[in-house]
Amino acid sequence: MNPTLADKIARAPKAELHIHIEGSLEPELIFALAKRNGVQLAYDSIDALRAAYAFTDLQSFLDIYYAGASVLLHEQDFYDMTMAYVERALADHVTHTEIFFDPQTHTERGVPIETVVAGIERALADGEKRGLTSKLILCFLRHLSEDDALATFDEAQPLFDKYAHRLIGVGLDSSERGHPPSKFERVFAKARERGLKLVAHAGEEGPPSYVYEALDLLKVDRVDHGVRSIEDAALVARLADSRIALTVCPLSNIKLCVFDDMAKHTLKDLLDQGVAVMINSDDPAYFGGYVNANYFAIVDALKLTDHEAYTLLRNSLEASFVTEQERAAMIARLDTYWKQ
Ligand code: ADE
Ligand code: ZN
Repeated sequence: MNPTLADKIARAPKAELHIHIEGSLEPELIFALAKRNGVQLAYDSIDALRAAYAFTDLQSFLDIYYAGASVLLHEQDFYDMTMAYVERALADHVTHTEIFFDPQTHTERGVPIETVVAGIERALADGEKRGLTSKLILCFLRHLSEDDALATFDEAQPLFDKYAHRLIGVGLDSSERGHPPSKFERVFAKARERGLKLVAHAGEEGPPSYVYEALDLLKVDRVDHGVRSIEDAALVARLADSRIALTVCPLSNIKLCVFDDMAKHTLKDLLDQGVAVMINSDDPAYFGGYVNANYFAIVDALKLTDHEAYTLLRNSLEASFVTEQERAAMIARLDTYWKQ
């Protein structure tokens, strides 16, 4: 890629809207926390763990990702993990981030949900003092039952009050195939009644019908991944008309074999057809790079222009869950920067 464009993207103010905080846990920190907490890992070295990061599909990744998260026990662990991400985000000129977390991964190991949120929140408050604004989105694990999600939602009620400034939405993640959005209609209806923002992973490995279900049954405000929408022309037109954004994660899509080559990624087709796509890192510690690395990989492989790169950056700001005033300020800042 043209080094001037890479540098321009690297320093541009940007939002990240699809990052699983547990997916930012680097192997070094996994080993440090395992030692601190006396947790036994299945790998005897950092290199051996990293060598296992050769995935064939989403499930092969999730098995290792949940094992990695098993070292998180105390509030300080969640703080340390989140602070490490905050540092990486600031280095990539992320000015606003919306972070997913998976409470069920921790509560099923006996870690209280309050411990999880308190540690993440303390790091995000520290990040805010350094210029990174943020929101938090609680994700339900779709391989578990809807009753389990409903119980988690009930348990989280006091947190939606206590952390109302931060904890603003719910999402749906984990094993997609065989677990359609329709399975979670009731819990999303409850979240909607409570005025929360709604997102769901759909159309990552699952078919376009899962994206329709996320829109029509869950009534999501954004779709996570959604890259398989390209297989359905009417769906692409609907996404473009409604400006419902797709939070695309290029390095993730390659690592999880959604596309076998970055040059075959469908992001540019979606962009050309007016879909509000933007770039995110998903699980950066597992997929080989944080948000800027994702921009470089896709801009390079698809030979995107200066204007297309700008559009991706701008879409990240347009799709953020912030006030209109905050959005206007973020866009003005990007525009001033981009014209320099
Ligand atoms: N949890 C963490 N990363 C995920 C992904 N890419 N898809 C579904 N669930 C996830
Ligand atoms: Zn994801």
